[in-house]
Amino acid sequence: MSQTLKAVRGTRDLLPPETALWNRIESTARSVFARYNFGEIRTPVFEDTALFARSVGEETDIVSKEMYTWEDRARAQSEKTQTLTLRPENTAGVVRAYIEHKLGETGQLQKLYYIGPQFRRERPQKGRYRQFSQIGAEVIGPPSAGSESPLRDAEVLEMLATLLDELGIKGWTLELNSVGSAADRERYNQTLREALIPLAPKMCVDCRRRAVTNPLRVLDCKVPEDQPIIETLPRIYDSLDEASKAHFAAVTATLDAAGVPYTRNHRLVRGLDYYTRTTFEFTHGGLGAQNALLGGGRYDGLSEAIGGPRAPGIGFAMGEDRLVLTLLAQELNQKSAPPQVDAYIAPLGESLNSAALALARELRHTGLYIELGEGSFRLKKSFEAADKTARSIVILGEDELQSGILTVKTFATGVQTKVPRAELAAFLAEPLKG
Ligand code: HAM
Repeated sequence: MSQTLKAVRGTRDLLPPETALWNRIESTARSVFARYNFGEIRTPVFEDTALFARSVGEETDIVSKEMYTWEDRARAQSEKTQTLTLRPENTAGVVRAYIEHKLGETGQLQKLYYIGPQFRRERPQKGRYRQFSQIGAEVIGPPSAGSESPLRDAEVLEMLATLLDELGIKGWTLELNSVGSAADRERYNQTLREALIPLAPKMCVDCRRRAVTNPLRVLDCKVPEDQPIIETLPRIYDSLDEASKAHFAAVTATLDAAGVPYTRNHRLVRGLDYYTRTTFEFTHGGLGAQNALLGGGRYDGLSEAIGGPRAPGIGFAMGEDRLVLTLLAQELNQKSAPPQVDAYIAPLGESLNSAALALARELRHTGLYIELGEGSFRLKKSFEAADKTARSIVILGEDELQSGILTVKTFATGVQTKVPRAELAAFLAEPLKG
């Protein structure tokens, strides 16, 4: 016997009724994005590997150990053998597209959103998968379009607060920080490196290594014994230049004025190299170790780093899988009823199957949600199936077909009613009747 094949580790099948929740999340996001004047961009799922190396950064975990990369062999003389990578994130692809399509030449701010799968070879656990879906957006443009303004940062954060509220996510926290310019970060790295010389020997093995290779990453350490030591380290804010401090002050003042709550997190340096100035995450206590619902920040030098014009920008990506987990946990507490269709049509005998499909077609065309039964079922079995999926059952026997009067039973009230076929759609459309 051949071995059963399963979905690959870290990937999942999404099934109904959960997929209805995914669709609701996506349509709420699309409607909020539209209100803020964002348009959708769809970039390829794979890109030249060099794109991620030059944007996300060669030294990051994502690029150094988590990417799905392969050699794509030339198949014709006109082709070159290339190294390709399944996108681990979408900001790099969006900025590449911005450059490739010369969107900067419009002189306008580009406000682009995306929804789609990303791929990282991480250790799978709750809320962390190897294929996961992000809902993200980027605001990018030439400085003359106002792309550097702190108002853009505050508007993106205010939009996220609105979106999470409209999705019904309760109890989120916005954590905010600034990592300054590339030069500020380099200065801070040096400061940290020196501060860690006497401290690292007392810390975990990872921190001992990071203290030398990438001191900034020490701030991500979760080992409880290391926390009091990390709290004593110099803060990145003190390494920022005056312009970055002023930018941060303007962002927080604008958020205060708009009434968007946030907390400062001095350790929020984020795991991607392209960030400058504002960085943020929205976290949720119900998620456990992978508590970031979303993350983002400003990336004023990214376009230039991949060969484009100066095009400062800010954006974010939400982990859609984590939004679903959070909403499912909330709904579990509320004991919501399973989704139901308006009616289940039960043909009494296989000879009535085609008449039943014709009736279902008629009703579905009026916009009703209909489940179609099967004539070979006994009536008891049809009733059981209907009770699980529908608000009512419509019996279709030879008599009903001839007379044009159908029998409808409404489960919530237990009432059975005779309804002329011409009035059936209107009857079923009223929840308390149908
Ligand atoms: P990121 O922090 O790497 O940022 O990912 C953003 C969000 O994607 C995370 O907060 C999390 O919710 C979700 N996520 C990441 N990895 C996984 C995973 N393995 N399984 C499930 N969910 C995951 C970025 O990707 C940046 N491109 C965000 C950005 C846009 N910055 C500026 N513009």
